[in-house]
Amino acid sequence: MNVKPYKSFKGIFNIIFPDGSRKIATKNFAPGNKVYGEDLITVKNIEYRLWEPSRSKLAAAIVKGLKTVPIVPGSKVLYLGAASGTTPSHVSDIIGEKGMVFCVEFSARSTRDLVFLCEKRSNMLPILDDARYPANYHFLVDTVDVVYCDVAQPDQAKIIADNAKTFLKKGGHVLLAIKARSIDSSKKPSVIYKQQMTVLEDEGFEILEAIDLHPLEKDHAMILGKS
Ligand SMILES: C[S@@+](CC[C@H](N)C(=O)[O-])C[C@H]1O[C@@H](n2cnc3c(N)ncnc32)[C@H](O)[C@@H]1O
Repeated sequence: MNVKPYKSFKGIFNIIFPDGSRKIATKNFAPGNKVYGEDLITVKNIEYRLWEPSRSKLAAAIVKGLKTVPIVPGSKVLYLGAASGTTPSHVSDIIGEKGMVFCVEFSARSTRDLVFLCEKRSNMLPILDDARYPANYHFLVDTVDVVYCDVAQPDQAKIIADNAKTFLKKGGHVLLAIKARSIDSSKKPSVIYKQQMTVLEDEGFEILEAIDLHPLEKDHAMILGKS
């Protein structure tokens, strides 16, 4: 087994298997612990977690060609819609001990799992709250480099914009995972993606990239914007 950086992305790796196949991975911030049943691979005494693109929209966007990943070692990230922590745990791996991921989730059931995960990861903070009301958790969250949003709500572009206004540094990035069917199942996904980008532009963001996640995630896209 061999390990190489994945493109020029800091904190993201390619594991190269003896048969020549490759899978993306992150360095496990909590060695010995799995989060969602992913494989752990040790190469030269460093443990990596395979990052499954079929389970994580951020991984799907990366393997589908996202050119810039604004989440790097040391980043502070506000993560909206953290669920039980699948993708946030890989964010935690990437940002490492100098970074912090503030994980907002409004389902008590998912947050319970998230709390157990955060106990093993000192760079993750669980916040049980509704992402529509950033003022509720204002006292818990610093200024961040990136706001990531995966809440599958009709007003998700507004939700990310309101959080960015409150917490994002000037020149920071937003990553918005769009689930077209959560917004309007009667319209073509491509129409919904354009509408959501227009909302972000109207809120003052520059759209840098839009990645259709099909077939890894049907009717989903990832939008990268800059404030
Ligand atoms: C698709 S799941 C997120 C999966 C997660 N991002 C990952 O990749 O591991 C969407 C999550 O957003 C949460 N959610 C939806 N609306 C929300 C809101 N207004 N505030 C906080 N969480 C919300 C849901 O409870 C659900 O857990």
